[in-house]
Formats: sequence, structure tokens, C-alpha cells
Amino acid sequence: MTLSAENKNKLKDIKSILYGMDIDYEHDNIDLELDKIKTGIPLIDRHHQELLKLVIALFRMLDSRRLDEKKFKTLIKDLMVYSLEHFAYEEKLMQDAGYPDIEKHRHQHNNFNLKLDGFLRELNEQTELYDYAVRMNLWLVEWYSAEILHSDQKMAFFLQRKKSRMYAAAGGIGICLAAILLILIYRKT
Ligand SMILES: [Fe+2]
Repeated sequence: MTLSAENKNKLKDIKSILYGMDIDYEHDNIDLELDKIKTGIPLIDRHHQELLKLVIALFRMLDSRRLDEKKFKTLIKDLMVYSLEHFAYEEKLMQDAGYPDIEKHRHQHNNFNLKLDGFLRELNEQTELYDYAVRMNLWLVEWYSAEILHSDQKMAFFLQRKKSRMYAAAGGIGICLAAILLILIYRKT
């Protein structure tokens, strides 16, 4: 299969974005436990790993010129389901923690859903599948790298700081209660 110059460039762009996340996509056992993409929130990190696995699987199909239509459609369906689940989880955490940038972040999630809907509507018998899949893969890699490296890091920083403040406050209350208890015991003796 001969690639058009446009597709070659898009595949090159995808590779450089993956390397920008420190992801060595060429290995069969791709390491996604990387510091650069970790937020420190276990379930979010696990979601990101699953989502990235799908995005990378698509890239590997395209890079090897072995795009299987059935596998591609299953992959897109999984990606849609996992993304919705992931966004709902992030939005719940942000809501519960009173994250000030929640609306901006939610807007990014909504834009992702709209764009993905647009892609899915475009898919029909007339679609040149390889071109379509490369275009979609580039958009997914760009979108997820921006989300994981920037928006989610910012959100996770806020959530972690809030959690450590809560622990510190709880620790402070515990120390006060222990001190009061000691005073009461001392007075009785
Ligand atoms: Fe995320």
C-alpha cells in the first residue's frame, strides 16, 4: 500500500506526539506507567492507560498498513464508551472537590464528544477508510495528549492539594483532641 504524502505527514505527527508523551509505541509491551503521563490519581491513570492503549492500537494498525475495518469499528466503539466513563468520573471528582476550572474542563469533554459524533456520522460506505482513520487517529492523539499532559495535570494538582489539606486538617484536629484528653486525664490524677 502506497501512502499519500498527507497521510505520511500525519503519521509522522502522531509519532512525534507519542514520543512527546515518552511513549515508545514500537515496543510490543508499551510502558504506560510513565511519570510524564501520570496524574497520581489511580483510577484516572488507569483510564488514561486504557484510552491510550486504544489510540496506540489504532496507530499501530495504520503504521503497519494493516487496517482491519471490523477491528477499527470495535476500537472506536470502545473508545467512545471508555471516554464517556472517564469524563464522567473526572467531572464527579471536580464537582465534589469544588474545582474552579470545572466548566472549562467539562467544555473540553463536550467538545470531544461532539467531534467524535461528527466523525461517526461521516463514516459510511463512501468513506476512504484509511484516510479517515489516519485523520481520526491524529485528532485523538492531539486531544488526549493535551488532556493528559495539561488539563488533567492541572486538575490532579488541585485535587491532590485539596486532599493533603484535608489530611492535615484532620491530623490537626486529632492532635487537639489527644491534647484535650491528656489534660483531662492529668487533671483527674
Ligand atoms: Fe482525563
